Amino acid sequence: MAMRNIRLDTDPILRKKSRPVESFDEKLWQLLDDLKDTLSKAEGVGLAAPQVGVLRRAVIVDVGDGLLELVNPEVVFSEGCQRETEGCLSVPDRAGITERPMRVRVRAQNRDGNWCLYEGTGLKAQCFCHEIDHLDGILFTDRLAPGEKLFRPEKKEKRKK
Ligand code: CO
Repeated sequence: MAMRNIRLDTDPILRKKSRPVESFDEKLWQLLDDLKDTLSKAEGVGLAAPQVGVLRRAVIVDVGDGLLELVNPEVVFSEGCQRETEGCLSVPDRAGITERPMRVRVRAQNRDGNWCLYEGTGLKAQCFCHEIDHLDGILFTDRLAPGEKLFRPEKKEKRKK
């Protein structure tokens, strides 16, 4: 079990673009294992490598139906629109209503380098988009729905990414 420190939005690394993963080796597997341990401890639903200071295109998502490891992920299809509350483990004590697609299809490699397709609707679609945004230096605070402002969640926000 190896935890890594989650970087906060005051850290400029969160605004940088991550590079593709090219080696599907033990270093990547360790990163993915550490992301899992760190997410589990933080009780979030998703975490991206740059949030632990690694500028590589790898994220994990777990909205309660199993852990997904997405390496070099890209959205290949999206439809619909949802306006839901969103938060981020790197942006503590703030939440906001964002606009995201209602359904997305994501193409990504697994930890062995094999390409897979994933589908997500609702929270899972929001989470896929949120994590992939992290790989391009984009935070949910950049995706607020028109007229929305950040607010302080009344109780502990469990849907953090
Ligand atoms: Co986040």
